[in-house]
Amino acid sequence: MQSITLALAKGRPAKSTIALLEKTDVRFGDFHEDSRKLVFFNNDRSIKLLFVKAVDVPTYVEKGAADIGIVGKDNILESQADVYELLDLKLGKCKFAVAGKEDYIPEKGQQLTIATKYPIIAQKHFEKKGEAIEIVKLNGSVELAPLIGLADLIVDIVETGNTLKENGLNVLEDIEPISTRLIVNKASFATKSVEVQQFISQLKSALE
Ligand code: PRP
Ligand code: MG
Repeated sequence: MQSITLALAKGRPAKSTIALLEKTDVRFGDFHEDSRKLVFFNNDRSIKLLFVKAVDVPTYVEKGAADIGIVGKDNILESQADVYELLDLKLGKCKFAVAGKEDYIPEKGQQLTIATKYPIIAQKHFEKKGEAIEIVKLNGSVELAPLIGLADLIVDIVETGNTLKENGLNVLEDIEPISTRLIVNKASFATKSVEVQQFISQLKSALE
């Protein structure tokens, strides 16, 4: 058997993914969230785990630095990476949505300004509707933008809806559901098919 390299997104779903892997007897003994280490091996060293920023996981997988990646659909879509998406882990469920102020009234013919961490997703969404928009790219606290007149609307992740609510914003439109997905490098899918398939079926059975 060849060994496989797995890129795992740091952040909210990492702990649940590790717990899921443990159910399949894949254990990363020295892994814990507070560790500053970035590379871990499982019990029989058949899997090398790279602990990377979520936004970089699709890049690691597309470039073949990792055979498999586990990361949110948000980052997969925004990266436009050329990879296979083969499994929905159904963790970290949330959605992409367009949101705005509770009293927001669109003006006819006005070009909208959209604040977002996800310019590609926002652009594609409004393109589909035939609406030209201007994007203001932010890196966080996007909900502030409509409140201070930096943008008309936002495109962002909504999980519980608390951030919107606490800032007087409403969902105006759902874009698409998000959850943690498993992606595979296209070449690895061919050259390490046995290992990749085995890893996926182990995860699948842990999910049942
Ligand atoms: C995320 C997202 C929303 C919020 C959604 O922000 O960008 O703001 O969580 O969750 P909720 O619907 O449960 O409130 P995050 O906390 O990651 O902070 P950031 O946007 O400032 O990076
Ligand atoms: Mg936020």
